[in-house]
Parts: sequence; C-alpha cells; structure tokens
Amino acid sequence: MNQMQPAGQTLSPVRPRAETVVRAILAGIGSYLPRTCVSNDDLAKRVDTSDEWIRERTGIRQRYIAEADETCAMMATEAARAALADAGVAGAEVDAILLATATPDQAFPATAVRVQHAIGAKGFAFDLSAACSGFIYAMSMANALILSGQARCVLVIGSEVYSRIMNWQDRGTCVLFGDGAGAVLLQAGAGSGAATDQGVLSTHIHSDGAFGDMLYVDGAVGRPDKPGYLVMNGKEVFRHAVTKLSDTVLEALAANGLTYADIDWLVPHQANRRIIDAIGRKLELTAEKVVVTVDKHANTSAASIPLALATAYGDGRIKRGQLVLMEALGGGLTWGSALVRL
Ligand code: UT7
Repeated sequence: MNQMQPAGQTLSPVRPRAETVVRAILAGIGSYLPRTCVSNDDLAKRVDTSDEWIRERTGIRQRYIAEADETCAMMATEAARAALADAGVAGAEVDAILLATATPDQAFPATAVRVQHAIGAKGFAFDLSAACSGFIYAMSMANALILSGQARCVLVIGSEVYSRIMNWQDRGTCVLFGDGAGAVLLQAGAGSGAATDQGVLSTHIHSDGAFGDMLYVDGAVGRPDKPGYLVMNGKEVFRHAVTKLSDTVLEALAANGLTYADIDWLVPHQANRRIIDAIGRKLELTAEKVVVTVDKHANTSAASIPLALATAYGDGRIKRGQLVLMEALGGGLTWGSALVRL
C-alpha cells in the first residue's frame, strides 16, 4: 500500500496488513462401502471375462456392490455421519448439503434432502448431476456458497449405485464400476489469500456437450420400457481423459502460482489405472504422490475421489496441512479440479 508522506515529517514504518479472506476449510472426511465385495474371479463366474483381462486393462481387482438396503441415500448418510464425526460437528450445525450422484434413489425428492432429514441438518439440500466429475462440481459449488456467505457449514457428498445402471450383458462396461459413498465437511474460516492457507484454494470446472454421446445412460424416468443402462465408448473417453485431465492439473497449478513439486498428493478420479499412469507420464509426476484406489473400489463415479481421499487420510498417508489436488472427468463430458490444503 502506498502512503503519501508530507515533506519533512517522519512516520513510523507502515507494516503491510495481512489481508483476511474467507476460506472453505475441509473439517472432516468420511466414507461408506457396501458390505458385499465382488472379486474379478467372482464376476467371471457370471460374465464372459477374466481376472487377468480386468487387471491388465484397468488395474481393478475388486469392487463393492450394494445390497437392496444400501441405497444412494443410505450410503450418503453413513458417509456424511463419518465426515461429521471426523470433524466433531453435529448434524444440526450443517446448513447446506450438496450431493453429487447419477444414481439417485428417486427422480425427486433429491437424495440430499433424505440425508438432511436423517442427520437433522437445517438450511437447504440438493442433488447435482455431473457424472464422474460430480464431486469436483459439488466442491466448486460448496466453495462458492461459503465464499458468498450463503452457507457456513456444507456437506459435500458423492454417492453412487452404478450396479443398478449396469448392463450385466455388456462385459465392456459392467466389470469397470462399483458402488459406494464419500463425504467431506466444509466450514467457513479465514485465510490470508496465499497458497499457504488452509482450505479450498481453487476449483475449476468445465463441460462440453458436444461429447454427450460418448458416455451416457440410454433410458430415462418415464420410460418403463427402457430403464436405462450405461453406454460408453471406452477408447474415446480414455483419450479425452488423458488430455483434459493433464490440462486441468496444469490449469490448477498455474492459477495458484504453483508447480507439481508444491503438491503433496494428487487424488485423481479412479476410472482406470492406465489413465492415471498416462497422466503421470505426460506430466512427469512422482508416482509416490498419487493416490490409487481403483484396484479396491473400481470406478465409483462421483464417489471415487472422496472414497480415495478417505482411504489415504484414514491410513495416515494424507495429513493435515498437506496440499491435495483432485481431478476428474466424466459423462457430459464434464471435467475439473479442486485444490485443497487440509
Ligand atoms: O469414469 C468415467 C470415465 N471412464 C473412463 O475413463 C473409461 C475409459 N476407458 C477405459 O478405461 C478403457 O477404454 C476400457 C477399460 C473401457 C477398455 O479398454 P481397451 O483397452 O480400450 O479395450 P477394448 O474396449 O478395445 O477391448 C479390447 C478387447 C476386445 O476384444 P477384441 O475385439 O480385441 O477381440 C473386447 O471385446 O477386449 C475385449 N473385452 C473384454 N475381454 C474380457 C472388452 N471387455 C472385456 C472384458 N473381459 N470385460
């Protein structure tokens, strides 16, 4: 700040005042996995596939499949409760819930309001649809709500039951996905505006509907003849994923004046080990800094990033104070990133 000094007058030196900005602080992390774990060999008993093919092409070894009572709302509620417990915050303190899902239990009401009722939250709750990028989109919206003062304590949840939209006759897709839920609690706090701040440092989200037919569900509510199954042009999605996710990592780093060396952990969307490795090679990333859970969870769409985050936070790899970059690409196409210092 420049100050005019009248000639001949001595002023004490002006100390630059640390600017205070609002930050969305990540206060808690939680997750829920269905009770039933299905290995590749289990799957090969009912689908024309093999453990070898699935492992070599995707890195997946197993996935969790929801039973009838493990609905999108039930799993989301359990993940939300775990995140609240981690933060030491009561459900009644939550004033907004954003739930990312492509597999809600009903067209409406939003699954998020079921969670709201179950945990005794106030304020408002709604679902958000951005397929596998849903969690990143929800983080972006929750951050905006906190920065604008519309909410102070926000649950961001990804919950998916893709097993219910799988065509179990299509071996090209049904071996790739799994069910589960993950959640984080964001709370309004203060920072200096620097990249050393705790909380969400940036989010970037994108979509391009020109690629809408590359990955979609071929049915709709009101089409009892066509309940809807996932259809994917895997090769094309793979190609876009490597390019767009590499770009989105660079975009987040540039926006914050950082390099990859400043990042403690990359938590990518868990679709395919080969996609994660290809991005790593392209950007020359250190493999030790990349969280990989696709082997255990398969692709859980909007739940994949918070599930991976919860895994690496739960086993002590990701620690408070560390800088975590998350990125995802999914149907839409949609893609984006969130940079958060825990
Ligand atoms: O989360 C949203 C984003 N989604 C993604 O990022 C997924 C992106 N795509 C991928 O991960 C990969 O493209 C796949 C894993 C889906 C497929 O891998 P690929 O290397 O592109 O294999 P492909 O589809 O070209 O199939 C190769 C062969 C085919 O046989 P032929 O025609 O070469 O004789 C398939 O019929 O593998 C066959 N195949 C299988 N074989 C055994 C396809 N699925 C299976 C299977 N088991 N499950």
